[in-house]
Amino acid sequence: MHLKVNLLEMERKQVAIVGAGIIGVTTAVRAIETVPGIEATIISDKFSPNTTGDGAAGFWNPYLLEGCSPEKIELWCQETFSYLLNLLQSPDSSTNGIGLVSGYILSEHFMERPSYAKVFLEYRDLTKKELEFFGNKYKYGVFVTSIYVECSKLLPQLMKSFQAKGGKIVQRKINKLSELAGEYDIVINCTGVEAARVVPDPDIRPIRGQVFRVKAPWVKHIFLGGEDFYILPNTDTVVLGGTRQAGDWNKDIYLEDSKKIWKGCCELIPSLQHAEIVKEWVGLRPGCSKGPKLSREVVVGSNGKKIQVIHHYGHGGSGITVFWGTAGDVMKLLQKSVSELEPNIFRARL
Ligand SMILES: Cc1cc2nc3c(=O)[nH]c(=O)nc-3n(C[C@H](O)[C@H](O)[C@H](O)COP(=O)(O)OP(=O)(O)OC[C@H]3O[C@@H](n4cnc5c(N)ncnc54)[C@H](O)[C@@H]3O)c2cc1C
Ligand SMILES: *[C@@H]1O[C@H](CO)[C@@H](O)[C@H](O)[C@H]1NC(C)=O
Ligand SMILES: *[C@@H]1O[C@H](CO)[C@@H](O)[C@H](O)[C@H]1NC(C)=O
Repeated sequence: MHLKVNLLEMERKQVAIVGAGIIGVTTAVRAIETVPGIEATIISDKFSPNTTGDGAAGFWNPYLLEGCSPEKIELWCQETFSYLLNLLQSPDSSTNGIGLVSGYILSEHFMERPSYAKVFLEYRDLTKKELEFFGNKYKYGVFVTSIYVECSKLLPQLMKSFQAKGGKIVQRKINKLSELAGEYDIVINCTGVEAARVVPDPDIRPIRGQVFRVKAPWVKHIFLGGEDFYILPNTDTVVLGGTRQAGDWNKDIYLEDSKKIWKGCCELIPSLQHAEIVKEWVGLRPGCSKGPKLSREVVVGSNGKKIQVIHHYGHGGSGITVFWGTAGDVMKLLQKSVSELEPNIFRARL
């Protein structure tokens, strides 16, 4: 009996998920929950609260997601939104950093109704009265009910549930994915924008975002003013943004950005002048001109051993909006990789 269990253990395919941001962690959770015959390990140099999603505004709304078809975006949105709505129905949603939020998306330009509009709980044009409330500064706008996701609260919980299901977590910096050949059968690349710094990848570039986090508990709605400014409440703080500087790797605070964001947000909601600043932060969105990279290849390590590589990065400004959906696509790739691996010698004998 004991021997049999050990044989089964040895038969399991070793899967490494590199990256512990929202993309890596949800990929790992979905893998361990849905793909049989694997052992999963998250390998990452940084963990929550030090990933990109931890500083992000976490507003569920597709943004800076280039190069994908509207049908794909709608599907990923639908799957992710449903997953989040389910979490919201659980008693744990008092601590997992997720909440419903409503508010105003304003624009000086006509806003075409996007295909994913129906995914929001509510998405409707503004009334004359609502536009007047903003001093008629914006000609167009919609009122939405959506969800905010605070990764600094959600990620630790997801990591715990991954470990409870037998998943392993290792802190390690990877220089080349091929260095994992021999150690793992399959590696899933969820490194966001960072690795493109070392290995230049023409498809991926940073889109720099600078924000404030403030204490303003009286602000209960979201406000997006045109292309430049947003006010997005989380559980304990409100995020004021922001910038989107493509190709800029600098994670220092730019004083001119701070001034511009503060002024623009205070014009939208004047009472923000009295908000206490908790912190200023810069993050790099993993911008991908051809949409998130979701593909498979086989890489040979310097030891001559092969490793199956699955790419899962490049979610731009929408990582927290489509993560569950793109991870679903990755599960199909993972199933394929597992089934293509040479059958284990023990299995052949059984
Ligand atoms: C200011 C700002 C606001 C945003 N607001 C929103 C929003 O409101 N809604 C929304 O949907 N999205 C938003 N985003 C985008 C969102 O944050 C990203 O799309 C998402 O966080 C990307 O997640 P990720 O897991 O791919 O990357 P990351 O969080 O960057 O994770 C990458 C992981 O890989 C690890 N890693 C990298 N290289 C290596 C290596 N060589 N070895 C080992 N580990 C490695 C890192 O340590 C990290 O754990 C915002 C982004 C910014 C910057
Ligand atoms: C996050 O980064 C800080 C500062 O570098 C570090 O002290 C802390 O240990 C990190 N947290 C985690 C969970 O890695
Ligand atoms: C892993 O992903 C990064 C993007 O984050 C990319 O630049 C890098 O080339 C990928 N690694 C490999 C070995 O494909």
